[in-house]
This record gives sequence, C-alpha cells and structure tokens, in this order.
Amino acid sequence: MEKVVLITGASSGIGAAMALELARCGASLVLGARRVENLVDLAAQIKQSTPYPLIRRCDVCSGDDVRALIASTMERFGRLDVAVANAGYGIKATVHGTDEKQMLDIWQTNVMGTWYVMAGAAEVMIPQKKGHIMVVSSAIARRSLPQMGAYAMTKAAQLSLVQSQRLELARYGIYVSSVHPASTQTEFFLEAARRSGRPVGMHGKAQTAEAVAHKMVRLIDHPRPELWPAPGTRWGLNFAAALPALTDRVLSRQPLC
Ligand SMILES: NC(=O)c1ccc[n+]([C@@H]2O[C@H](COP(=O)([O-])OP(=O)(O)OC[C@H]3O[C@@H](n4cnc5c(N)ncnc54)[C@H](OP(=O)(O)O)[C@@H]3O)[C@@H](O)[C@H]2O)c1
Repeated sequence: MEKVVLITGASSGIGAAMALELARCGASLVLGARRVENLVDLAAQIKQSTPYPLIRRCDVCSGDDVRALIASTMERFGRLDVAVANAGYGIKATVHGTDEKQMLDIWQTNVMGTWYVMAGAAEVMIPQKKGHIMVVSSAIARRSLPQMGAYAMTKAAQLSLVQSQRLELARYGIYVSSVHPASTQTEFFLEAARRSGRPVGMHGKAQTAEAVAHKMVRLIDHPRPELWPAPGTRWGLNFAAALPALTDRVLSRQPLC
C-alpha cells in the first residue's frame, strides 16, 4: 500500500495495532502520541518492513501539536493520504457525578483533539483533491449507557463532525469515515479506571485491537461512511432505536457502581 498514513494515539491499543498492520502492507507512517517511548518501540518493530516512521510527541489537546504533526508529514512525505483521529479515552461516572474538570478534559481530548485532526487534514487534502479522514468514535455514539454519559457525549459529537465533513469534502474526492468499535482489549479500561477512580469493565465480549485494526486497514482500500467492527452491534442498536422504552427499562436496572 503506497499511502502516507497519520495516526494519533498510536502508542497503544487500536492505533498501535493499526500501525503494525499498515507497516506490513508497506505504508509510510506518521505516528503521534504523548508517550514517545512507546512510539520509539513501535517504530523499532516497524522498521523491518517499511521506511522508518515519522514519530512525534503530539498531545491532541493542543491544536499546535496536531498542526505540527501534519506539517511534519507534508515536509517529510509531501502529501497526506489518510489521517486517523484515534486518540481518546473514557471515564465512568454518572452525569451528576462527573466533575467540571473531567467534563472539560474529555471534551478537549476526544472532541477538540479529533476536530484539530479533521480540520488540519482537510486543509492539506483539499489541494491534493484526495484523501481519507477516519475518526475512531465508538458504538456508544448512537446509544449511551448508564455512567457513560460524558464519554458517549464525545463519541456522538465526533460522529456529528464526521457526518458534516463527509458531505463537505466529497466534492474534493475526500472520504470521511467513522469507526464504531464495541469493547476492545486495550489499555482503554485501565486508563478509564485511573481517571474515574473505580474499576471499569468491558461491555460484552471484547474484540482484539488487531481485529479492529485489520478492518480499519481494509476501510482504507474500500472506503464507506461507517465501520462497525464488532458483529451484531448494529442489531442491538436497531433494537434500542425501535423499542426505546423497553431498552430504558432494561438498562435503568443496571446497578450504579
Ligand atoms: N477499547 C475500547 O473498548 C474502545 C471502544 C470504542 C472506542 N474506542 C476508542 O478507540 C480509540 C483508541 O483507544 P484504545 O482502545 O486503543 O485505547 P488505548 O490503548 O488506551 O489507546 C488510547 C490512545 O490514545 C492516546 N491518547 C490519549 N489521550 C491523548 C492525548 N491527549 N494526546 C495524544 N494521544 C492521546 C494514548 O496515547 P498517549 O497516552 O501516549 O498519549 C493511546 O495511544 C479511542 O478513541 C477510544 O475512545 C475504544
């Protein structure tokens, strides 16, 4: 695959798994995250199969960091084919139990961090008249759950940005897709527990990061508006949309822990 692919949040989980699979396909990679040491380890594995990736410390809460990552991509490779806005985290708290700082922080990372990538990538892709912007949202974007309000809010916001930008950029030959994983075995749950001060478990059977990443890599070759990597997720959501009162009755019985 002769593509230049930028991934935020490439230091673990889905982002790292995607980088490894793309490297095996021969893509040129631009990897951003705050834990540069993880990116260096990843690059060491990657260099066997592809040109040494461009790695850069990038905190997506900073528009300057994201713009610098995109500028370095253009300097090194002269183009950007795929931008994956993947960086993000979750928290577990009731709506009234989420404090103001938690609310602002998760918005800044998951929504602003995504928007910086979407806006910056569009700026360089429009003159190219091609490109693909991929945003890692979540299955929860379409139906929130108890104690997941703040996280679900950010994932729904990402989906709204994607839907608008897809319509805006289609005329330039640029695809914009959202990805909606269900529970995936990554550091996500540890990080959510750390930030929430309580254990955070997976919902249902979890996929591996590699399985999700594999489908995301295929999405590059076969772009479509939405990718739902976990089989069956959409059936559950269709059920919830068709029978909202029954869904509420079932979900509201869940203990708040
Ligand atoms: N795992 C799941 O069950 C699941 C389900 C649905 C959706 N998702 C979504 O999938 C995406 C990837 O998560 P994951 O499951 O792979 O979890 P993960 O292993 O915890 O990876 C999260 C990545 O985001 C990066 N990140 C977090 N805050 C950042 C910041 N301010 N600036 C730059 N990078 C930042 C982390 O890198 P650094 O800490 O090094 O910066 C890390 O590389 C997230 O958007 C998440 O919401 C996950």
